[in-house]
Amino acid sequence: MLDTLTISIQPTTASRLGELDPANIEFGKIFADHMFAVDYADGEWQAPQIVPYGDMAVSPANSALHYGQAIFEGMKAYKAPNGEIALFRPLDNWRRLNESAVRMCMPEIPEELFMQGLSQLIRLDAGWVPSATGSSLYIRPFMFATDGFIGVRPSDNYRFMIFTCPVGKYYNKPLRVRFEQKYVRSAEGGAGYAKNAGNYGAAMYPTKLAQQQGYNQLIWTDASEHRYVEESGTMNAIFVIDGRVVTPALSSSILDGITRKSVLQLARDWGMTVEERKVSVLEIIEALKQGKLQEAFGVGTAATIAPIATIGYEGTDYDLPQAGADAFSRRVGEALDAIRGGQAPDPHGWMVRV
Ligand code: COI
Repeated sequence: MLDTLTISIQPTTASRLGELDPANIEFGKIFADHMFAVDYADGEWQAPQIVPYGDMAVSPANSALHYGQAIFEGMKAYKAPNGEIALFRPLDNWRRLNESAVRMCMPEIPEELFMQGLSQLIRLDAGWVPSATGSSLYIRPFMFATDGFIGVRPSDNYRFMIFTCPVGKYYNKPLRVRFEQKYVRSAEGGAGYAKNAGNYGAAMYPTKLAQQQGYNQLIWTDASEHRYVEESGTMNAIFVIDGRVVTPALSSSILDGITRKSVLQLARDWGMTVEERKVSVLEIIEALKQGKLQEAFGVGTAATIAPIATIGYEGTDYDLPQAGADAFSRRVGEALDAIRGGQAPDPHGWMVRV
């Protein structure tokens, strides 16, 4: 990507790259050397900067801390065998970040600011992009309110930032999940489709309860009756029932996942039947009982494809068949890895070089 925007860059004088062990990367704990930051004040975006990654001072009265006026994205950059670095569908993240911004009364981010911030930051920290299959540079763009004011109204000032971290696998083994029948992640008409911080904070308690019962994650169900599947943990949920790829249709309570739509696109490319519709809990349980549920998995940027091994419902655990080499989740995960790693053609133009 050409530099079309001037970003002031203060390079670090003490790179931490030498401390990185690419064979042992724990998700979200190690951050690359630099971060991008730009403030919004007086109704416009100010001068963008790239500075060494580190702590920063903010007003303790900002409305991100008190009222959750904070949004984020999750995206990834990959290194091809020839060393080129590319982002996966970055404009989809930009659009979704702005949809979240509108929902949370925050200013939208111009495409150039987002894309230039990303590409200049990642080029500077190119050495932090791992090259092993299944590893990548996880990128966290985020925006939060910065007014020092605790009245309940949208802030006038904001900061948009991007930092990155090298990552490997998010989950190491197939998941045990259970249908949630009491708590909800989001309701129709709420902010579940947006990537605002509060959606994730509010999900922690029900998830903790499920983890105390031996599950890794929940399958969220609808807020009014708990009859329909919504998402799984922090991921979208996809099922293979009798050879058909089935997933809950998008709604105001479901995040428009970029991995979700990429998986569905590949399934369609491969001539599979894809059904985006309401999926009831009982349909899944019936399919499990009749041996028709061939696969269930979560899809998301951080986790990519997370196969589900066991689904709990009303005190009973149902085991799924083990995903073999020909399982859709495995094939689609490998196909995505190959496109992202530059080892396969990219027919949909998903990869954007930095
Ligand atoms: C992502 O997949 O990027 C997510 O948003 C999940 C995350 C909160 C770790």
